[in-house]
Amino acid sequence: MPTILDFLLRASILARAKLTSILKSETILPAKSLSGGVELPGDKSISHRYAMLAALAGGTSELRNFAAARDCHSTLGCLKSLGADVKVNGTTVQITGRGLHDLKSSWRTLDAENSGTTIRLLSGILSGQSFSTKITGDSSLQKRPMKRVITPLREMGANIRGRDDNFPPLVIKGGSLRAIQYQMPMASAQVKSAVLLAGLYADGETSVAEPAVTRDHTELALQLFDAPVRKEGRTTFVRGIAATNGNAALRPVSLDIPGDLSSAVFFIAAASLLPESNLYIGNVGLNPTRSAVLDFFQQMGAAVSVAHLQSNTGELVGDLSVKGASLKGGLIAGDLVPLLIDELPMLAALGPHTEQGIEIRDAAELRVKESDRIAALAENLKRMGAKVEERPDGLRVEGRSAGPVHGAEIDPKGDHRIAMAFAVAGLAASGETRILDPACAAVSFPNFFAELRRLSES
Ligand code: S3P
Repeated sequence: MPTILDFLLRASILARAKLTSILKSETILPAKSLSGGVELPGDKSISHRYAMLAALAGGTSELRNFAAARDCHSTLGCLKSLGADVKVNGTTVQITGRGLHDLKSSWRTLDAENSGTTIRLLSGILSGQSFSTKITGDSSLQKRPMKRVITPLREMGANIRGRDDNFPPLVIKGGSLRAIQYQMPMASAQVKSAVLLAGLYADGETSVAEPAVTRDHTELALQLFDAPVRKEGRTTFVRGIAATNGNAALRPVSLDIPGDLSSAVFFIAAASLLPESNLYIGNVGLNPTRSAVLDFFQQMGAAVSVAHLQSNTGELVGDLSVKGASLKGGLIAGDLVPLLIDELPMLAALGPHTEQGIEIRDAAELRVKESDRIAALAENLKRMGAKVEERPDGLRVEGRSAGPVHGAEIDPKGDHRIAMAFAVAGLAASGETRILDPACAAVSFPNFFAELRRLSES
């Protein structure tokens, strides 16, 4: 027989658990507009690359508007462990590099936390070091495939071991590398970048050919830091500079990083959905290998306009304004997929609010991102009452004719982009949406929920 004390104890444990789960969720209510100016974090992809190259430079680089994204701070942590001097003052980061040869072996295991870009790109740099490094990440990262970087880096001469020869932790011992001509089997900017970074240490000229265009920030960044890189169509070439020069170092830079378009997309989507919106997003990165999402919004009938285009350090930057509009929906497939790979969660979550719905094909890659994004999207869209067909390489989300969606409890599976996509979807649903584990948004956009609250009006 349970005593009264047992009963009270259980009740208090349950109450505490409920309170914790309430505190650990973010409530989204329907809104009528999203208006004002968005404060965007610096671009995540560019911040990773500038930080890594700055660590290989001879001197101090100053990176302003460095990404607030937790992922980029994971990169900084790894670079510190490798001996780079890193000073962070708000969004300004100063990195004093050690040249290509003077990184130090780290006694502790490097922690890339949730960041695929950190582990895959650093694998390229670590392949050029004569010491051995162990690098791992959180439980999500430990499930993500690394064979795609292990294969070409091994071909270059690096010694790499991983769990089941595919998953972190990776143990990487480099040394003198040989140049390879790599035909990438998949369209991945991370794989391309890992090989190009290792190419700095190879004897001769390394090339990487991609089957479809992927983001070219590494190529632009290598140029900026004065590395011998060139491009012919979809093939990028880099000449090894470390093998023949014991003092080789990249040139340090001082510059401003553009705002992150992939973070802006959540606000573009929200403003488009809410009829009375009038949103402004200044100083956003519009690199053509990232901006296909804007063309897609325009094709869907969104009222997005671009102004004040300028090229900043090779990266295109501009200002956006967005008003509410009725969205048509559409199909995303083939070579378009790698150009807006990170935007697919937001586009899919818009599906029920569009005329024809959204269909995504040829995107099996989404299953090995921070979560299985196809499964996470299908599950949470269904929780909101949407009609969804899940497929191995994508999904079809029915549009408005399938009926309105309602608020629901959303489980983002620890994935920042799923959490943010459904927060936006919740603004245009009836009733209350509860996003569990909202803190996961910090992986790319720590201020996301505060910005959404600040700019939305009910
Ligand atoms: C990134 C490339 C993409 C993207 C990721 C960031 C990068 O991954 O999904 O969020 O910074 O290079 P893949 O190159 O693996 O497609």
